[in-house]
Amino acid sequence: MFSMSRDFGVVVLISGRGSNLKVLIERAEHYKILAVISDNPEAPGLAYAKEASIPIHTFSKGDFSSKDELKRAIFEKAVELDPQLVALAGFMQIIPEYFVERFYGRLINIHPSLLPKFPGLNTHRRVIEAGDTFHGCTVHFVDKGVDTGPIIAHLGCVRWTPDTEEILAERVLVLEHKLYPWVVNLIAQDLIWLEDKSTRYDTTAVLSANHKGIYIGQK
Ligand code: GRF
Repeated sequence: MFSMSRDFGVVVLISGRGSNLKVLIERAEHYKILAVISDNPEAPGLAYAKEASIPIHTFSKGDFSSKDELKRAIFEKAVELDPQLVALAGFMQIIPEYFVERFYGRLINIHPSLLPKFPGLNTHRRVIEAGDTFHGCTVHFVDKGVDTGPIIAHLGCVRWTPDTEEILAERVLVLEHKLYPWVVNLIAQDLIWLEDKSTRYDTTAVLSANHKGIYIGQK
């Protein structure tokens, strides 16, 4: 039997591989994934939702007259599902402002760099080019900017000089898979939340972060 906290409903949005979706499914202790939404009906990650009998809603560019129409349909569906939290996991669309406003504090994203460093795409390549010796991933609340919202947590690793972009991507992905379910389980228990545009943490979350080598708070 599920505990009461399993009633914390999460909708996950993906566009592709879905490895973060996979771990969010596997490690759902205090939340329930209500549905997975995708702007790509061919997204390989949808298979994980299917296996777990999680409802899937896909939207295909070809069925809409414009990108705005496509996005309207996607985000109307997300609103209709009435989740407590929306988790972006490799969702490759800019989120419309009205949706950010409506879900502010309940909309999160995972990004493959130590934000605020390297927002945007090709983060691993840019880390190598910049000669940075530390790298990692970030989970943050989404605001109206691209990868700019209040940071929730980081997990980092040393970048070794021989690391190629591909190897670095693999190493950071392992960290992402630890970090994202950790954050979602704590938000679901009300141990991490957003207040006055800042991320707040219950002591339990702080201790758990220390225990796992997770960095919390803004740098
Ligand atoms: C991850 O690197 C995530 O940080 C970024 O997009 C990628 C998605 O990977 N936002 P996956 O689809 O979860 O495997």
